[in-house]
Amino acid sequence: MTVALPLPRAAEHAERVATPRRYLMCAPTHFDVSYAINPWMDVTRGADPDLAVRQWETLRRTYLRLGHEVELIEPQPGLPDMVFAANGGLVFEGHALGARFTHAERRPEGPAYLRRLESLGLKSVTEPVHVNEGEGDFLVVGELVLAGTGFRTDPGAHTEVQELLGVLVVSLQLVDPRFYHLDTALAVLDDHTVAYFPEAFSAGSRGVLQRLFPEAVLASEADAVVLGLNAVSDGRHVVLPSAATGLAAQLAERGYEPVGVDLSELLKAGGSVKCCTLEIRA
Ligand code: ARG
Repeated sequence: MTVALPLPRAAEHAERVATPRRYLMCAPTHFDVSYAINPWMDVTRGADPDLAVRQWETLRRTYLRLGHEVELIEPQPGLPDMVFAANGGLVFEGHALGARFTHAERRPEGPAYLRRLESLGLKSVTEPVHVNEGEGDFLVVGELVLAGTGFRTDPGAHTEVQELLGVLVVSLQLVDPRFYHLDTALAVLDDHTVAYFPEAFSAGSRGVLQRLFPEAVLASEADAVVLGLNAVSDGRHVVLPSAATGLAAQLAERGYEPVGVDLSELLKAGGSVKCCTLEIRA
């Protein structure tokens, strides 16, 4: 009989390496909850844009402290959700696809982000045909793009991304309205690993995720409902909502360095760390 000995943690995870990233962010200067397009949003509750800006500033400084570059886009009055830069597009290997929003309230953000992407010196910037909410529903894992649908992004946009970028796009069906964007239910930790909340996905999509990522970190409902999976990783540091303490412990166990940030004001609109961050991938 052989007994498997657990490897010492340091040796097991010696490979967690951070790589410098380039992000696009938008200050929540005009933040508000003046309409409700997801179950998190309650227009009677009010929102404090000054607090939102202070919390967002902490996130921006966290990225700078970790050695990342942060580009900004000018916030526009009347677009309270513009702070959620992830929804502004998808950038892969220097090629960008713009966003086309589901709801009329956010539609003007599409051209605003497209213009900003055009000013970043990318290889190409393409206007979208189908409805897609950018990195809210498209998440890059190494050479693969995971694509959410069910609430916002049209499945036609999944094919559009595959054709535009020549990269394999895996469609995933979201089934719980609290997790209306893929980035509220799944976090990319590095080029091979993700964390997700299984119950946010259809049975078939759960099967796909199990096959693709047998070693994935499975988040609890308690961590998912504070949008703990709305996280941004550089391969080593995982910036996530500070309330997601269970998930932070699971990540530390796997050799990642969780970095908690409090974005409670933005949670009133159904967004957190990842929503505020669009990665500009060269
Ligand atoms: N209130 C915004 C909406 O419902 C929040 C967007 C959050 N962004 C994200 N990437 N999940 O559209």
